[in-house]
Amino acid sequence: MSVREIIIHPDPRLREKTSAVDAFTPELEKLIADMIETMYQAQGIGLAAPQIGEQKRLFVLDVSENHDQPQVYINPEIVAKAGEVQSEEGCLSIPGVTETVPRAETITVRALDQQGAAFEQQLTGLHAICVQHELDHLDGKLFIDYLSPLKQKRIRKKLLKQERLATQNAEQA
Ligand code: NI
Repeated sequence: MSVREIIIHPDPRLREKTSAVDAFTPELEKLIADMIETMYQAQGIGLAAPQIGEQKRLFVLDVSENHDQPQVYINPEIVAKAGEVQSEEGCLSIPGVTETVPRAETITVRALDQQGAAFEQQLTGLHAICVQHELDHLDGKLFIDYLSPLKQKRIRKKLLKQERLATQNAEQA
């Protein structure tokens, strides 16, 4: 297992198309293990494959209190949704930004687990929101896309500035 580098907005790789997982190989197992380790290391509750540069349809999450129950969703689909909630969200690919966006209150998600077995979950609360957020990543979508163009522009500027500062500091070190 290894911790992978998380790609930061506005990197175009976060906007690319992803393809369905069609083989349950040792490479896939390694990728899943890396994603879980990277998520924990970054203290996140979810991580999608495109965030580490893998254009594949899978994500991991852990919304348990003790952060000891990772779950894997491969080729996930939301097959039903109901209600609407305002959700305060952040994203490991958009560090330092928290904004409120609309989400469905309850969802039904179908996916494959790490062994390739199909499962279905009816979810509400944080778990439902996390699945919606991570599934958006697989479609090249970020939570800030739900905000006004002006807000999106400000966030983009802020992140580019942070990146410039980080590069400068690295050069000076
Ligand atoms: Ni995210």
